[in-house]
Amino acid sequence: MVETDIIQKEKAKNIVVLASGNGSNFQAIIDAVDRDEINAVISALISNNPDAYALKRASLHGIRTVLIKPADYETRDDYNNTLLKVLIEIDPHLIILAGYMLMLGKQIVHRFNGRIINIHPALLPSFKGAHGIKDAYEYGVKVTGVTVHYVDEEMDTGKIIAQEAVRIFNEDTLETLEERIHKVEHRLYPETIAELLNNKLRKKDRGI
Ligand code: GRF
Repeated sequence: MVETDIIQKEKAKNIVVLASGNGSNFQAIIDAVDRDEINAVISALISNNPDAYALKRASLHGIRTVLIKPADYETRDDYNNTLLKVLIEIDPHLIILAGYMLMLGKQIVHRFNGRIINIHPALLPSFKGAHGIKDAYEYGVKVTGVTVHYVDEEMDTGKIIAQEAVRIFNEDTLETLEERIHKVEHRLYPETIAELLNNKLRKKDRGI
């Protein structure tokens, strides 16, 4: 038993999470790691925002926090170069964006190509951008959802890894819809991360 545990731990992959805000998706990942549903070690939580509650969540779980504030840098490129250095030092198997509200610099996307993922609260390619839930709600679509995708140089355009639909009912308010979307996110993101780390995601024959 003990031996199996040790072997299991040795195999755990190193992941890093980037978050700018509340960090409820980050929390879902922490919980899934704690329950051994994700076989990984969260090496750091990186944030651009000193007020991000995600930083507090990391501290509460003894996870290293790295705060890199764009305002401390002359240009966005300088900021991204510093972030790149930190990421190279950590050398994560997977970089997980969880409500990270800035575009990652090209240098980071190139260096970690295929190892950066994001979660978006709509069915991409619909309702890209920072207000996916509200935009879908206000448009009046009857079905929206959640997308997990690879990150490329553009916003919300990378190859789709997983998607789940969420119906919008006539009696929904924006708040009830948000609640249901987040519930799906908190299940789908950890599940997808676990599958990616175990190489269990079936590669489809559409070049995806
Ligand atoms: C989530 O809805 C996620 O899809 C989007 O930003 C939100 C982050 O929420 N990218 P939280 O910080 O994880 O609570």
